[in-house]
Amino acid sequence: MFEDQLPLPTKRPRRLRGSASLRDSVAESQVTPQNLWLPVFVREGLTDARPISSMPGVVQHSMESLCKVAESAAAAKLGGLMLFGIPEHKDSIGSAALNPQGILNRALAELRPVVGDDLPLIGDLCLDEFTDHGHCGVLDAAGNVANDDTLKVYAQMALAQAEAGAHLLGLSGMMDGQVAAVRHALDGAGHAEVGIVAYSAKYASGFYGPFREAVNSSLVGDRRTYQIDPRNGLEGVRESVLDEGEGADVVMVKPAMSYLDVVAAVRASVRVPVAAYQVSGEYAMIQAAAERGWLNREQVILESLLSIRRAGANLVATYFALDAAPLL
Ligand code: PBG
Repeated sequence: MFEDQLPLPTKRPRRLRGSASLRDSVAESQVTPQNLWLPVFVREGLTDARPISSMPGVVQHSMESLCKVAESAAAAKLGGLMLFGIPEHKDSIGSAALNPQGILNRALAELRPVVGDDLPLIGDLCLDEFTDHGHCGVLDAAGNVANDDTLKVYAQMALAQAEAGAHLLGLSGMMDGQVAAVRHALDGAGHAEVGIVAYSAKYASGFYGPFREAVNSSLVGDRRTYQIDPRNGLEGVRESVLDEGEGADVVMVKPAMSYLDVVAAVRASVRVPVAAYQVSGEYAMIQAAAERGWLNREQVILESLLSIRRAGANLVATYFALDAAPLL
């Protein structure tokens, strides 16, 4: 008989899958709350938190609700809180980003005494929430984003956030030379202890869609003259290596799930921690499918975070951080 001639397998990977304890003992990757950073939005003038319709479960915080979520994040032992501010008034140069009374700087100043050093605070260092044109930098006379003029604004913004109490600054604007410019400004002003998270491999992605609602973005058009073309992987590595050389303390890949190849390549190319940002659209896809009962929410949250860690990310920025922490 044909079956009698089938060779029996001698290599049996299934042996190590036979029980939960065996599977646990050979698990190669894990996620801990400390690996997770929670992005949060705080909006000037709100008295109550306001839902973001394209990100069910995520809100624009009032100052009061922001303090509560920071306390929860500290209690859950998350690795960090990433703050985005939404000002009442925008202008062409994003002045509210520099003003110590601007919403983001005020939020940092309020939170720092609440969380101390128990929860790292990461200020978003970018102008798009503060400019009336919605771009991440200032514009030249022709309406193009002016790289070197923007660096001067970023340097001032960095000092405002450092003075307000940020532990780390998240440089998400994708201007050339931004890490060196901000490092120089911080060191010159006595803020050598404030670290830089460089959004190094940040792609011009459709997955940021819901974020635009979250921050009341004014952007018309796109950011393709400064964010990376999704066709390019090596360019993400190049940007990360440049940023490490300029003094970045952490480099980031963003988005995460469609860019796991870039996460792995960057991990192999730098010697600083690598973060990956599971962005608003990635969050929204999982939430929407789970709401319809099309997939198991908790299982998919954990699997998505694990896959990002397995690809090589040391840290994951995710809107699921507080939901995931008790499951870990
Ligand atoms: C811009 C910024 C964006 C995100 C974080 N910072 C949007 C963009 O570049 O258009 C997106 C985050 C998300 O989608 O969750 N500074």
